[in-house]
Amino acid sequence: MSYKKIPGTRDILPEESGLWQNIEELSREVFCLYGYQEVRTPLIEDESLFNRSLGNTSEIVQKQMFLIPHQDQTYCLRPEGTASVVRAFIENNLDKETGFSKLFYLGPMFRMERPQKGRLRQFHHIGCEAIGSLSADLDVETISLADSLLKCLNINGYTIKINNLGCAKDKKSLIDALHKALKGQLPHLCPDCQRRYETNALRILDCKNEECRSIVSKLRIHDEYLCRDCAQHFIRVKEGLDLLKIGYEIVPHLVRGLDYYTRTVFEVTHPDLGAQDALGAGGRYDNLVKELGGPDVGAIGFALGVERLLLACKMPRPQAIRRSFAYLITLGQAAEKEGMRLIDDLRKSGIACDTDYENRSLKGAMRRADDLKAGFVLILGDDELKKGIVTLKNMSSGEQKEIRPEDLKKELKC
Ligand code: HAM
Repeated sequence: MSYKKIPGTRDILPEESGLWQNIEELSREVFCLYGYQEVRTPLIEDESLFNRSLGNTSEIVQKQMFLIPHQDQTYCLRPEGTASVVRAFIENNLDKETGFSKLFYLGPMFRMERPQKGRLRQFHHIGCEAIGSLSADLDVETISLADSLLKCLNINGYTIKINNLGCAKDKKSLIDALHKALKGQLPHLCPDCQRRYETNALRILDCKNEECRSIVSKLRIHDEYLCRDCAQHFIRVKEGLDLLKIGYEIVPHLVRGLDYYTRTVFEVTHPDLGAQDALGAGGRYDNLVKELGGPDVGAIGFALGVERLLLACKMPRPQAIRRSFAYLITLGQAAEKEGMRLIDDLRKSGIACDTDYENRSLKGAMRRADDLKAGFVLILGDDELKKGIVTLKNMSSGEQKEIRPEDLKKELKC
C-alpha cells in the first residue's frame, strides 16, 4: 500500500523550501524593525479557547476544527494564532512583566476546509499581535507593518480594505439595525444567511452569494452606528494612513468572520488569487484579553497566509549555485576511508560538503555534483593519496589544481 498526503496538506520539497526560508527570514527582519519579538505557542490547545474567542457561531468553530478527544476534555489543532498568543500573554504574566507586548509568530494552522486553490487544511501564518494599547496610531502602525511586509516580499497590486466595526455596543446596534432592515428580505437570503440572521447577522454583510450581495448593497450601511469615540478612532486611523501615504479602500461591509473583532478591521486582497483572494487580514480585539481572564487592555494584530503569499509573490528563487558547497569523489577503498576523515574535518570547520554513497563512476559522480550545484569537487584516489594531495575542481571556472589537505579549508572558505 502506498500512502498519500491528506487532501488540503502539502509537502514543501527542497526546491521550494529555500523560498519559504527567504520569506520567513525577511518577515523576521521586518517584525524586528517594528519592535516585535517572536513567540512560539503549541500547535494543540484546549478547544474551548477558540470557542470562546472566535465565537460559537463562527464558521471555524462550527465546521472547521480538528478535534482531539482527551479524557473528559477536547483538544484541537489551532485554527489561528491570536487566541493562542493572548492565552500565552495571560498565562505567562506578560502584562505584569513586560506590559505592552509586541509578539510575532510563524507557523502552521489547521482548518477542516474543502480544499481548493489557496484554501488548505494545513496552511501557514505569518502573524503578529500588539497587546496592551487602545491607540489608533497603533492601528496605523499595524497596517503599515502589513504593507511593509508585502512590499519587502516583492508583492504588488494588492488592495488594503478597512472598516470600523465599533465597540461591543456599536456592534449590537448594527446587528439590531440589520435585523430590522433584513426582516422582510429573509426568504430571499441564502440558507446560510437565513441561519446567520439568527446567530450572527453581521456575517450577512460579507456573504459571497450574489443575491445576498445585491440585497446588502442596497442597505446603505455606513458609519452612522458608530459611537463618538469609535468614530473619532476611525478618523484618526484614516488620517494616519494618509500621513504615511498608505493606499486603502473603505469597505463598510467588511466585517470578518471572527467574533473577537472590535473597531478597526482590515483585509488585504490580491487579484491573482482567484476566489480565495485574501492575502491576509486582521484587526482590533479590545475585549478579548479581558474575556480570556487577562487585564482590560486593547490589542490589534493580523496574519498573512504564506501559501497565498507564494501565489502572489514574484520573488526570485534563492541563488542557484551553492558556492562553498564541496562534493567529494573518492576512487578506491583506501581513498574512501581517508575521504570519510576529510569531509568530517571540513564539516567541523564549517564547510558544507557531501560525498557519493551509491558507488557511482567518476563521470556519474561528477554529474551528481553538478546536479547538487556544488561549487567545488574534491577528487581523492590512489594517486592523490600517494602524493598527499587532493584534486580540487572549481565548478564555476572549470579550473582544476592539486592542493594539500591542510590548505583546503582556506581555499574553500574564500
Ligand atoms: P484569517 O482571516 O482567518 O484571520 O486568516 C488570515 C489569513 O490566513 C487569510 O487572509 C488567508 O490568507 C490565510 N488563510 C486562512 N485560511 C486559510 C486556508 N484554509 N488555507 C490557506 N490560507 C488560509 C486570522 O486567522 C486572524 N487570527 C488574524 C488576526 C491576527 N487578527 C488579529 N490578529
